[in-house]
Amino acid sequence: MAADLSPLLAEWMMTNASRDDSDLDVSRAPFQPLDIPALERALTGLSLGHPLVYVPTLGSTNTRAVELARAGAPEGALVLTDHQTAGRGRQGRVWTPLPGRQLTLSLVLRPPFPPHWLVMASALALTRAIEAATGLHPEIKWPNDVLIGGRKVSGILIESSDAYAVLGIGLNVNGTLADHPELAARAATLADALGHTLSRETLAVDLLRHLDALYADLRRRGEPAQRDLRDAWRARLGTLGRRVVIRQGEQAVEGLAEDVSADGALLVRDDAVGQRLITWGDVE
Ligand code: BTN
Repeated sequence: MAADLSPLLAEWMMTNASRDDSDLDVSRAPFQPLDIPALERALTGLSLGHPLVYVPTLGSTNTRAVELARAGAPEGALVLTDHQTAGRGRQGRVWTPLPGRQLTLSLVLRPPFPPHWLVMASALALTRAIEAATGLHPEIKWPNDVLIGGRKVSGILIESSDAYAVLGIGLNVNGTLADHPELAARAATLADALGHTLSRETLAVDLLRHLDALYADLRRRGEPAQRDLRDAWRARLGTLGRRVVIRQGEQAVEGLAEDVSADGALLVRDDAVGQRLITWGDVE
């Protein structure tokens, strides 16, 4: 492990040593911090999740994971927090915190393939883990939001360079978004949808198991694994067959979402110009 990684891991060891009396900013009922020793035990044997860097309160797990990646952290390093105070979303948006009630995590990866395969793998892993934990049927809104009943429960932010890809996942598990009326119409927690709370640890482990398997398959089998992943991800896409508006900054593309390409780009039948290949943007 690179020498300049040690101060970051030392911070983790200190914060873990004092986690029982952590001073998390809890705005509602108290919560149990993540059970990190149980998580570490459950993640034994996976390629992803080691080392596990837990910081009770942190600006952004992605920012920390990028720092670790630049300092030479090994592939699979995992950053977790209970309270993310400056979580970042796609296109410069803010990820709203629910202290102690979300999963907010980032992985350091060094994939030998383009990061859009990570987008598909993580969205698919999320739907599988959520379905197993809740019995609900999540769908993916292209490219990578996970929705239940039309409301977003999870978002993914990938930040990459030539040397690494940091995969950040936010999942609203417990608590409620009723305190955030501007969000509640289009976002929810799993507890909002289910009516009861869930173990964040169980969800985290299942999510990482699915992701670990998909990632290993991509590394091992290459193109055949990409085809299988694209097909499984496509089967979960709720966007296809719908009329959509895709916002790309100041621009918007409108039409029928017909299909996705082999690489996962959205094929939209634009009323004016025919079929268009959309590689980024927000679907409405
Ligand atoms: C989006 O929906 O726009 C993406 C949201 C991604 C949020 C997660 S939470 C963990 C990780 N750290 C961050 O700062 N962002 C991602």
